[in-house]
Amino acid sequence: MKAAVVVGAQWGDEGKAKVIDFLTEHADIVVRYQGGANAGHTVVTDGQKHVFHLVPSGVLYADKICVIGNGVVLDPTAFLAEVRELAQRGVDAAGRVFVSSRAHLILPVHAALDRAAEVSMGGRAIGTTGRGIGPAYVDKAGRLGVQVADLLDRERFRRRVGRIVERANALLVNLYGAEPVAAEEVVAAGLATADELRPMVRDVALLLDREMRAGKRVLLEGAQGTMLDLDHGTYPFVTSSNSTAGGACAGAGVGPTRIGRVIGIAKAYATRVGNGPFPTQIDGPLAEKVRTWGGEFGATTGRPRRCGWFDVLAARHAVRVNGLDELAVTKLDVLDELDEIPVCTGYRLNGELLTETPLRGRDLEAVEPIYEHLPGWRSRTTGARSLHDLPAAAREYLDRLAEWAGVPVGIVSVGPDRQQTLTTSNHRAFVTD
Ligand code: GDP
Ligand code: IMO
Ligand code: MG
Repeated sequence: MKAAVVVGAQWGDEGKAKVIDFLTEHADIVVRYQGGANAGHTVVTDGQKHVFHLVPSGVLYADKICVIGNGVVLDPTAFLAEVRELAQRGVDAAGRVFVSSRAHLILPVHAALDRAAEVSMGGRAIGTTGRGIGPAYVDKAGRLGVQVADLLDRERFRRRVGRIVERANALLVNLYGAEPVAAEEVVAAGLATADELRPMVRDVALLLDREMRAGKRVLLEGAQGTMLDLDHGTYPFVTSSNSTAGGACAGAGVGPTRIGRVIGIAKAYATRVGNGPFPTQIDGPLAEKVRTWGGEFGATTGRPRRCGWFDVLAARHAVRVNGLDELAVTKLDVLDELDEIPVCTGYRLNGELLTETPLRGRDLEAVEPIYEHLPGWRSRTTGARSLHDLPAAAREYLDRLAEWAGVPVGIVSVGPDRQQTLTTSNHRAFVTD
């Protein structure tokens, strides 16, 4: 059985966790493969809301295995707090949540560096989540990082943390004029998590290989979104990992031949949190309305999300760089009250018409979106349980998005709850070899 990858096709917060939770019913294992606690993944079942930052979004099914791959940067304290909070809600992770020995750790110095760097950039700040993601990946790529396996070897951990803190303090004090961090405190905080983490540590590539050979269904859960990808996003206003589908191979240790299906999640409109280009952004009272209807406030930082219209050029870019097989369109219900819905089908740049994303990332700041206006449906879709329950104009809207993006719609979401999910004849998650 081949694995399926679920990725964000826009700027993050597309409703990935909701779709992962829905698909997990027919999966055996759910794997996070990149990012860290910058993710805020919301699942609602029977009216109860859960927000996950590191634990894979399939965890609510008591019989499923959840795995954190080597590509994730793991804050061990935040992770264990999340596992404990789940236990308080009656969700037992013991014996079924595993962590790669190769995942890199986020230490308190990384968060300190993240925040200091943001402050120093002033008006050019990225608008990060402040969780230390960028600096942790810098140390990983700089071959200075600390892996989960290092935490299980006290002396090695102490040595490697010492080196990281020494370098971090040089930057904090001399470059940013910030307070230094005490190495002993960082070591102690890390070691305090070791005993609880030890039984969860695995060779994840080996675990997944064995399970897939035994016919198990693996779902790879992306965090962030295509436009936040380090290589394919709106650099430098991106996160520091490959959130696109290729990142799943490197970040979980699953070879590309083992992946059979890639599902891209996109809202029926668009949002972005943090700074950087967002051509279809809307402002004023209409933006406020969409934000209120969609509850568009960050699940990690609580920041209001910037709201905009569906961007066909961004969607086509996502189809290309992820090799999407199908789209899951979420939050269709948020558009229920609109008379007409603008969809961006082109950009104008210096008088020239563009139908694909511009060559230079910074041109995205300057483009003027060109809209087609599709008729709204002005009726509630939240009760729909099959495609046939949707008003004709809503079905037409979905058909047009699929046609423009060049990929069929397989899943439609009309509300936050697990029940409020429709599938079409184009949907398939797992395919056989
Ligand atoms: P993720 O990061 O991609 O998993 O998405 P987030 O959890 O950050 O943000 C999506 C938000 O939209 C969450 O509050 C979800 O509960 C909510 N949501 C997901 N799908 C739908 C939907 O179809 N309709 C509505 N109204 N809300 C949805
Ligand atoms: P999920 O998985 C939306 C954004 C931040 C900032 C940029 C870099 O819930 O979709 P970072 O802290 O990663 O260095 O910040 O990326 N960002 C997200 N935006 N959803 C997310 O995750 C995000 N994770 C990071 O706002 O613009
Ligand atoms: Mg989110």
